[in-house]
Amino acid sequence: MKCTVTAKESGLVTADILVQFFSKKEMKRDAGKVLAGLGVVASPDGDFKASAGEIAMLYRQTSGKEASRVILAGVGEGKTAEDYRKAADSVARKTVDLHLGVLALDCSPIDDWAKQSKQKPEELAAILVEGVLSGAYRFDRLKSGKLDKEEDKDDKPKNIEELVLAGCGSRLEAVEKGSGKGMIIGLCQNRARDLVNLPGNHLSAEELADAAIEAGKRGGFEVTVLDKKKITELGMGGLLAVNKGSEQPPTFAILDYKPKGKAKKTVALVGKGVTFDSGGISLKPAQGMDEMKSDMSGAAAVIAAVEAAASLGLPLRVVGLVPATDNMPGGSAQKPGDVITTMSGITVEVGNTDAEGRLILADALTYAKKEYNPDVIIDLATLTGACIVALGNSVAGLFSNDDKLAESIFEAAQSSGEKVWRMPLWDEYDEMIKSDVADVHNTGGRGAGTITAAKFLEKFIDGHKHWAHIDIAGPAFLAKSGSKASGATGFGVRLLLDLLRRWS
Ligand code: BES
Ligand code: MN
Ligand code: ZN
Repeated sequence: MKCTVTAKESGLVTADILVQFFSKKEMKRDAGKVLAGLGVVASPDGDFKASAGEIAMLYRQTSGKEASRVILAGVGEGKTAEDYRKAADSVARKTVDLHLGVLALDCSPIDDWAKQSKQKPEELAAILVEGVLSGAYRFDRLKSGKLDKEEDKDDKPKNIEELVLAGCGSRLEAVEKGSGKGMIIGLCQNRARDLVNLPGNHLSAEELADAAIEAGKRGGFEVTVLDKKKITELGMGGLLAVNKGSEQPPTFAILDYKPKGKAKKTVALVGKGVTFDSGGISLKPAQGMDEMKSDMSGAAAVIAAVEAAASLGLPLRVVGLVPATDNMPGGSAQKPGDVITTMSGITVEVGNTDAEGRLILADALTYAKKEYNPDVIIDLATLTGACIVALGNSVAGLFSNDDKLAESIFEAAQSSGEKVWRMPLWDEYDEMIKSDVADVHNTGGRGAGTITAAKFLEKFIDGHKHWAHIDIAGPAFLAKSGSKASGATGFGVRLLLDLLRRWS
């Protein structure tokens, strides 16, 4: 998707659609006046409640190139960034569905919105652009178009080509600055979604590593990919064990963004990169197995977050670590009951080969601590189905051994709209992952599956004091349900960027 953004002082702009944002309060108070001023003849009466994300399309007669379509976009109470992001998302979705290319948002009330939502005008502009990019996202690169009906083969725009932030007046500069940031974060998040949506036969571990290299080229940071030989030399027994059933070699990608000046902090981001999770010998049921192409969502979010941090020039060193492989059954696959030795030297009894994410993350956490001793380590992983049972599809599980870090992540989650909820790492749960034959067991039996997975990871941080684990199994990928958005969400990119910017 190629979309340019321009900010304009004037509210009189050329476009296919003009969007007017309304809070519930404004809708009651002065919607009629505003609409009359725009030349809209019919009013939405009481049908339109202005809840966040709700839209209504109205039409007007225009002379020249001004938009004849006016969308009323609700922002609910208009009190949070999320209200505006939802509104922008809905509007963009509609614009793409209608195959219209030029979308204009009326930003003239931006100072009022800023006051209401306690955001800077610049931040609000960024949020609007992020919202538009998210709503306009389509995954169509695997469609050839060969079977499209004749009437659909016209040259209407396939996606939004131009976004105009209109009526910025004296806020032009702030809006321009903010929209630049929003573009970076929104585009990187959409790149993460592309990687997640790519099925197993289009994204191997090597191809995922290639995507990291491409991100490095765009963002101007160093990327090193360790191959199977190097992974073996390093003794990454977890990654190698999961890879045993595969026809394709594992990779371990290291993305290293160093800022120009002195870095305020070094942050290591670790992402689970299981390109397809069949469960291995502990094979998953057929129903829903296809969704396991999304089991590298943590990796995708990490790659995208490092690129965004680099593109924004944040004053932090951000190291992304991505262990990658598929998890396949086969004659040489690891077997339930196997005992493996991880890079840390810790031995693991593999009770269930479907608990593979923690095995590859174990080595990545060891590597992070050993090679970088970073100020903070955060891992993101589609780690457990149990997390979906506990928190559903819109909230991620958060674990941390550092209350302050957990608090910062919670705040970043609230403001980015990518929600997390903290769960405990109490010693009681250690009992559940004890092994009779090895140092630790890779599953914890019935109950608290998300927590025992996190407790397992904790064994591999080697006493690091500032670690957090985010289980994104729920929100990373949404199954199709009616007209609702489905597929990859890019969850984690906005959250991580919000967090990194707090430290900048
Ligand atoms: N990748 C899955 C977790 C998952 C499930 C992510 C559904 C997204 C949607 C993970 O590797 C897994 O299979 N976990 C097992 C662990 C169990 C065997 C202890 C699970 O959750 O069932
Ligand atoms: Mn699994
Ligand atoms: Zn998995």
